[in-house]
Amino acid sequence: MCGIIGINSNKQVTASIINSLKKLEYRGYDSAGLATLSNGSINEIKTEGRVDKLEKSLLSQNIEGSIGIGHVRWATHGIPNSLNAHPHSSNNVSVVHNGIIENSTILKKFLIGKGHVFKSQTDTEVIVHLITEHLKTDSYVDAITKTLKSLHGSFALGILFKDEPDLIVGARRGSPLAVGYGPSENYLGSDSYALKSMTNKITYLNDGEFCFIKKDYVEFYNEEGIKINKKVLELSTDEKNYDKGEFKHFMAKEIEEQPLTVKNGIKEYIDSHNNDINIHNFPWKIEEISSITLIGCGTAYHSCLMAKYWFEELTSMEVNIDIASEFRYRKNRFKKDNLYVFVSQSGETADTYAALDLCNKNEMKTCAVVNVIESSIARDSKFILPIHCGTEIGVASTKAFLGQILILYIFALKIGVMKKDLDIKKFSEKLVELKKLPELIKETLLIDNKVQTIAGTFNEAKGSMYLGRGYSYPIALEGALKLKELSYIHAEGYPAGEMKHGPLALIEEGMPVVVLAPRDSYYKKTISNMQEVIARGAKVLLITNKSEDEVTSENIWETIEVESTNEDLLPFLLTIPLQKLAYYSALKKGFDIDKPRNLAKSVTVE
Ligand code: M6R
Repeated sequence: MCGIIGINSNKQVTASIINSLKKLEYRGYDSAGLATLSNGSINEIKTEGRVDKLEKSLLSQNIEGSIGIGHVRWATHGIPNSLNAHPHSSNNVSVVHNGIIENSTILKKFLIGKGHVFKSQTDTEVIVHLITEHLKTDSYVDAITKTLKSLHGSFALGILFKDEPDLIVGARRGSPLAVGYGPSENYLGSDSYALKSMTNKITYLNDGEFCFIKKDYVEFYNEEGIKINKKVLELSTDEKNYDKGEFKHFMAKEIEEQPLTVKNGIKEYIDSHNNDINIHNFPWKIEEISSITLIGCGTAYHSCLMAKYWFEELTSMEVNIDIASEFRYRKNRFKKDNLYVFVSQSGETADTYAALDLCNKNEMKTCAVVNVIESSIARDSKFILPIHCGTEIGVASTKAFLGQILILYIFALKIGVMKKDLDIKKFSEKLVELKKLPELIKETLLIDNKVQTIAGTFNEAKGSMYLGRGYSYPIALEGALKLKELSYIHAEGYPAGEMKHGPLALIEEGMPVVVLAPRDSYYKKTISNMQEVIARGAKVLLITNKSEDEVTSENIWETIEVESTNEDLLPFLLTIPLQKLAYYSALKKGFDIDKPRNLAKSVTVE
């Protein structure tokens, strides 16, 4: 979380910093700030809340300079007010930080002992004073090397110095950081997205590295302070994805884009001519893999759970799934014949990255299912399966979820057929059905009016439950997460069969319960569970698929019907009304849909 920008130029930089901070807001929006150098002093401005507020404050203050750093914050240490906003500065040094300094309390004590005075409650301020302290005796390279060595935890840093009008230092351990190159100016950014309007020439810092950004060149150093060479990558310059177009929110746009993004995913992986799946350059022989572990966080974890059902159905492999923040600290039994799959939209999630890193250190087979192909998880995995769904801006993941489950389904089909667990005829039939999916999603998206009315009732409730069995269970979890994060209504997803083991006690008169019961092999069982909640007063919203057979159960409050397809693909269609329900619920409440409270798009702290 938190976004960092730095610009060293021969032109005024404040407007460009503000522009980049607006792009970085998906990483955090608790506060914003920037610092520039002019007339030999550091000028700092910070506000609580969004970048718009910072921009307005700038109108009344004359903050100029051709070199500067900026920050958007997702609070970790210290409440989100302007005092704790970044940059943090001494007379000589100004710092923006993404991450957490775990030993800040000890370092602070030491620095106070040396006479340093702290202004904020943040862990970041120790970095400012440590550098200031080292600069009393050391060169810039030595001061940075020594400071970084004494920090425990994760960080990406941007540093400005009062006495160096042509220097921004960037440093990385655990949190991503990129350097960009422009004409007589160079940049530092949390990611290439923030730099894209200025350049498409990028270098990513690896863990432990730092850089000196001058106007005309950039120097890179390893953790020992020794100069190193790094490659410059050229990224695509396509920006059209970042526009809301006719939509009120990015989330609405991203939901409606799904027929297209799924179509793109299918186009990338399905070889229609040969009726096959293209997974090129898979680095291992299929006989070398006998089990699979899928790891992710939040929505990405729900994708892993979804994939577990498909992999178990379509292949003979043992399938395990894990939440990255749990996996990284457990005593795992690493297995050479296991494939470790890391699922992440951003490719920067700290816990998922740490789990990947652990597997890499144990020399395991690692594969990333990511949207951002330049991300840390993508770069450090041995094999990548990109989801090709385009940039996702809304903090609540929608099209990336469908993208992840699409690619995981395709991967399960391919492994099934490679392992000869799935016969060619069935495989071909499934590909035929899959190719129809974008059109079915498009049809299912036309359910708006009904969902809008239903959303009103959810907003009056204290809480709600989402129930599903089999393939519908991961979708119930995902639907509940969407409602929670957008409308701040308590919502829990449960396997429908688990209700009588405890959660049924929560059901009371009028409580809205979403039951996912498509006509699949679990249908009858789920309908029985639905009756049990109706009998206890729940207001059931049944989500099923279109069929000639009527639902026989009575007292269902509302029914939404999605299009019909084979059992494997129904989860894609069931997801659509749940995304819309969460969207309209938040819209009616007037909440900030693209930036829900307390959240951030890219979770780069653990
Ligand atoms: O970028 P990632 O897919 O690794 O992110 C994982 C989660 O933080 C993310 O899916 C989160 O749960 C979303 N806000 C859900 O909408």
